[in-house]
Amino acid sequence: MGREFIDAFEKWADHYDQSVAGEDPEYRVVFSSYDQILEETANAACGTVLEFGTGTGNLTRKLVDRGLNVIGVEPSHNMRLIALEKIPTLKICDGDFLDFPDPGEPVDTITSSYAFHHLTSDEKDKALSRYNAFLSERGRIVFADTLYNSEVDKLRIQHWAKDKGYFNLLKDLQTEYYPLRKDLDRMFRKNHFVPKFKQMNMFVWLIIAEKENE
Ligand SMILES: C[S@@+](CC[C@H](N)C(=O)[O-])C[C@H]1O[C@@H](n2cnc3c(N)ncnc32)[C@H](O)[C@@H]1O
Repeated sequence: MGREFIDAFEKWADHYDQSVAGEDPEYRVVFSSYDQILEETANAACGTVLEFGTGTGNLTRKLVDRGLNVIGVEPSHNMRLIALEKIPTLKICDGDFLDFPDPGEPVDTITSSYAFHHLTSDEKDKALSRYNAFLSERGRIVFADTLYNSEVDKLRIQHWAKDKGYFNLLKDLQTEYYPLRKDLDRMFRKNHFVPKFKQMNMFVWLIIAEKENE
């Protein structure tokens, strides 16, 4: 579920790493401080890690380098191939945020970078509710993802993209499901997580959500 953007990722896979390096001017701001964002995301993970939307494996690489036991889930075949070229020993399967094989072991961290916004609001809610039941007692969610700090910011950023002539980015901003921070905060709390938000660049926030104490 939530796979409506997969065709775009199949086509993007072979030059995705050039985009994250800032070679595409439209997306340079989205990927500014990319490496640092992934570093901080990986630093917040522990134990057995289930990573959704691995893409070409850039966050995965950092998690594996920290000695964490990583299970990757990625719906795009072409992205999976590139991640496996980089990390041949990686456990990775075809799946998505809502529909994925049972990892068969307790999970301590659920993580993802630049991907959760592909789910609608209902799908995000469903995923969080599922993850609470799924995570170990001290489990946490660590997401780096795009969101809007407020309704005013949403309009300001969309105007900015239009003024710059960044029409591909503008289309993403208008068609993908970037949430408002307050709505995401509410959704985490409803599903018994306590989230903390830290802004990493104009678009991306690091979200660390611990399970609420019973
Ligand atoms: C912008 S890329 C991010 C890749 C990588 N995590 C990174 O930080 O560079 C988004 C990734 O999420 C994947 N994706 C799209 N929809 C998804 C879904 N519903 N569940 C899981 N992954 C999804 C795409 O195939 C793509 O690999």
